[in-house]
Amino acid sequence: MEIVLAKTAGFCFGVKRAVDQVYQQLQQKKKIYTYGPIIHNEEVVKDLQKKGVCIIDTEEELSELKEGVVILRSHGVPERVINLLKAKHLEVIDMTCPFVKRIHEIVNRESENSNIVIIGNPGHPEVEGIRGWSKTQATVVSTVDEVLHYQRPDEERPVCIVSQTTFNYNKFQEIIEIFEKKGYDINVVNTICDATRKRQTEAREIASDADVMIVVGDTQSSNSKKLYEICSQECEKTYFIQTSRDLKLETDKTVRKIGITAGASTPNNIIEEVQNNVRNFF
Ligand code: F3S
Repeated sequence: MEIVLAKTAGFCFGVKRAVDQVYQQLQQKKKIYTYGPIIHNEEVVKDLQKKGVCIIDTEEELSELKEGVVILRSHGVPERVINLLKAKHLEVIDMTCPFVKRIHEIVNRESENSNIVIIGNPGHPEVEGIRGWSKTQATVVSTVDEVLHYQRPDEERPVCIVSQTTFNYNKFQEIIEIFEKKGYDINVVNTICDATRKRQTEAREIASDADVMIVVGDTQSSNSKKLYEICSQECEKTYFIQTSRDLKLETDKTVRKIGITAGASTPNNIIEEVQNNVRNFF
């Protein structure tokens, strides 16, 4: 029986950079706040809270802060949050991933003359952050049906389309094809992060040849859920687990190959533990 661990499993560059920064700042013995949990991973967030990191969930709470260091996570925030923090003269460490920052810049610039469409999950903090850099009302779409019903808020203007960095690449292409058929003047900027594309491609490849596939990620992590979606299409026995504690393999000795992948917010120690447990199971 073979266990194949995806090379792309685990922390991406943007998440690692943000998490490392929080641990580093803790050495300074200052009061540390993160605006939202630094990553969508319960284990890491609990550990940071134990070490004294406080999570701020709303703009109201943020506006009441008087001191401390505020760390912004890789998902990024709307422009108004940056302005709020500037006005309060708080110490801010902006760990917005550079790939997300690039989308903010595109949306901010293009919204001067275009209708903005964001392909992504409405309500996801990254999407809300991107939306908050548009000078005009941006539209968020995530399904083909929503594109079919899409109307340009300003019919005189072209449509500039960007994507959430972790959106499913095949779904993105499907949505773009529908936009193309609508006959609008469109400007498509594929802003899906390369780390995401590679992770999804590798997960699909492994799952297509595995008897059992395991996706390790937090239930709140959008990119992990997408990995699960992709792997389930290829491998009937796909499990989505948060840690090795959730691993309840119902399988037999005829299993030939087990694949493992993990979302961008899954720490290495959790992946290793899952891998060891799988090995011990057989
Ligand atoms: Fe950045 Fe891509 Fe990760 S956008 S946070 S490197 S998934």
